Order: sequence, then C-alpha cells, then structure tokens
Amino acid sequence: MKYQKIKGTCDVLPPESASWQHLESIVHEMMRRYNYQEIRVPIFETTELFTRGIGEGTDIVNKEMYSFHDMGGRSLTLRPEATASVVRSYIEESVGKRSPICKWYYIGPMFRQEKPQKGRYRQFQQFGAEALGSNDPAIDAEMIALSAGILEQVGIKDFVIWINSVGNPESRARHREELLRFVKPIVDKFPAVDREKIDRNPLRLFDSKLDVTIDLMQDAPLLEKFLDIDSQNDFERVQQALNNLDINYKIDPRLVRGLDYYTKTAFEIKSSALGAQDALSGGGRYDLLVEELGGSPTPAIGFASGMERIILMMEQGEGSLFRETPLDLYIVAREENEREEATRLASRFRQKQISVDLDYLSRSQKAQMKEAARQKACFALILFSDDLKLKKYQLKDLSTSEQQSLSFDQIVRRIKPE
Ligand code: HAM
Repeated sequence: MKYQKIKGTCDVLPPESASWQHLESIVHEMMRRYNYQEIRVPIFETTELFTRGIGEGTDIVNKEMYSFHDMGGRSLTLRPEATASVVRSYIEESVGKRSPICKWYYIGPMFRQEKPQKGRYRQFQQFGAEALGSNDPAIDAEMIALSAGILEQVGIKDFVIWINSVGNPESRARHREELLRFVKPIVDKFPAVDREKIDRNPLRLFDSKLDVTIDLMQDAPLLEKFLDIDSQNDFERVQQALNNLDINYKIDPRLVRGLDYYTKTAFEIKSSALGAQDALSGGGRYDLLVEELGGSPTPAIGFASGMERIILMMEQGEGSLFRETPLDLYIVAREENEREEATRLASRFRQKQISVDLDYLSRSQKAQMKEAARQKACFALILFSDDLKLKKYQLKDLSTSEQQSLSFDQIVRRIKPE
C-alpha cells in the first residue's frame, strides 16, 4: 500500500459516519436548549497562544503540539484544544463589551502528538462549551449538567461525574510547597516519567496511571486542605446547585487537570467501560485565562468531550448506534427513453424531499433490482416505456413486494404520507 493514514488519525466511513452525524445533531440540539451558540475558530493559531494559555509546564505544550514555521517564519500550532482559541477570539472581537455573558460551543478536530492507543488519537474530535462573564457557581452546575446531559441523550448511562476544586494560584502555591516537602525525600522511588513532573508541576503526580506513583501518593497532602475560603465557599455552592438539579456526582480530591488554566471547579466524566483512556469529558473554571491572554478580568468556565470515545461507547452497545437513514426510492430503468425519464423523475422526487438513487452502470433490470435491495431502499420504481406515455409508474414496496401502478403525486403520498 503506497499511502496510508498517519498513525493516530482515523477515517470515518459509512455506516459509522451516521453515528457521528447523530451525535453531532444531539450536540447542536442540546446546545440550543441551554442557549449556547456556535463559534468556529481556526484549526491553527500562533504557538504562543497555546504555550501561554495551556501552560509551559503541561504535557500538551511540552511534548504534544504539532508546531511548524510558516513561510513568514512564524511559529504556528495545530490547535490541541479550543479553549485558548475561543478566549483569543472573545478578546480580539471585544465580545465582553457587547454582551456581559457569552455562551459559546464548538465541534471540531484537535491535534495532540500522544502515543496512540484505543480511545487516544493524534487527531481527535471534541465538542465543547465555554461560558464567559459569570462567576456564579450555578453556571458551573449548568456546565456539568450539559456535558452529562449530552451523554444521556445518546443513551450512555455508564459514567461517573467527578468534581474537585483546584482553588486559586495562591492556594495551589501553598499546597505545592507542602507537596514538594512530601515528595522530595522519596524522589528516587518515582518512575522516571513521573519524576520529571516533580519540578514542572508536582500536582500532576496525582494524575499518574502508574501503580508505583499511585501507591507513593497515597499519603500525599491534598489540595483541599489549602483551599482559600472563596474557593471553598464556591465549591460548596456548586455541590448545592448540582444537588438541586438531582445530578449524581462524586468528589475526587485528587482530581487535577492536564491544563494549567484551571481555577476553582474542575470536573471529569469517566467511564470504566473505556479502559485506560476513561475520560469522556473534562472541564472547569478558568477565571484568570482571559486576563492572562490580554483581556480584561473575566470569569469563565467550560468543558470539552472526546467524540471518538463517545462513539466507542455507542459501538460497545451503550447508547443507540445509528445506521444510515434508508434510501426512500431506487429507480430502475433500462431503455434510453426510460433512463431519461428516470433522471427527470429523480429530480422531481428530490424536490419533494424524497431520497432517490438510480443506476449509472447500464445494468440489467435484475441487477438494478438487486442494487435497490443492497441499498436497503424502501421502494423501487420500475419504468417501462409503455407506462411512460400514461404517466404511470410501477412502484414496488420492497418490504412486502407489493406492486402498484401509480402517478407521480400518488407515489409522493405513498412514500411520504402527510
Ligand atoms: P481535555 O481534558 O484535555 O480538556 O480534553 C477533553 C476531552 O477530550 C477528554 O476528556 C477526552 O475525552 C478527549 N481527548 C483528549 N485528548 C484526546 C486524545 N488524544 N484522543 C481522543 N480523545 C481525547 C480540554 O481539552 C479543555 N479544553 C476542556 C475545557 C474547555 N476546559 C474548559 N473549557
């Protein structure tokens, strides 16, 4: 094989693409219900936007970005996530001046040079939402409800919502000191991949999937003990708001996120059905990011979900896997005049919102009937020269094999009853 797709990328072919369309339509519908409007940001941005936004010490910025120089010598990067781009656009377009609260959502590809495995890809699709302008804990709860609600709408039930508060930078700095005091004496016991996190961001040790690190961190001091009073109060209020919405959640005091911009609420939705890559969604508050990227101080919160992982769960039987919508009508025609009439009729049926296909391979009538069955068409329309003069056509219901001679209008009514 001369050309193959790049490792960590996926082709989505029919019929699987129908499941993608189904998921996307649910995302659009749920965002409408919660009054989030769609934003489309570029696939690539200046590298600095992501290094500043996501944080120099993160794995994403350190190891995973697809960065390149363009002809002008600028360093550009394929977006590894969309929050930084959304905030850049919010500031650049002065949106905060026009509307005190801004609720946006997006769907699109992201790029991270991670080691590919089941559920982890180098190009993957996310949908996500961002609400900028409010620090009300009720919107934190709305965000969690929205991300879980979309999973429920596709029929996924096997998941747990984990929440935590990661406080403000001061509380994290106090915790970091204490954490380093705990970790430094046992530094040699950590596996090499985790050891390198110690200087960069020791909080990330809590996120390790390695048993040795998990054991070593059992008695590590937790961030919750260092939380500032404001973060503590808001975390209480987020929980009350979730209770008020009857949303089940669990608190994980070890939940840390892989991006540096978070403050206060952090959450992840995980499913054990997914194996190692178990996070379906992740998000949280990022009250300092707008200012960090050059805007006025603006509280904000958001989340993003991995669509491949959702589709994987749908394929495993969780949720409804959608097959393509069936073809309404296949027109069977052989002689030249029949074939001409077939194309005219196809166009008229399509104007009536009926899906139609016809033969382009000059096949026999039998082969065309077989094709209609292969396409799982609901009806076949068989054209005969003699019938054409009368403007009547043979409509065959392919599920019952019943055949009738009908006019155009009668066929439309039969296929699409009012
Ligand atoms: P994240 O946790 O990096 O957050 O990604 C969100 C979700 O994207 C993950 O839970 C996972 O389902 C999916 N995902 C991440 N990496 C991959 C991958 N390599 N392959 C497949 N799926 C993946 C963010 O991206 C933040 N921007 C979320 C956010 C929005 N926070 C505030 N606003």
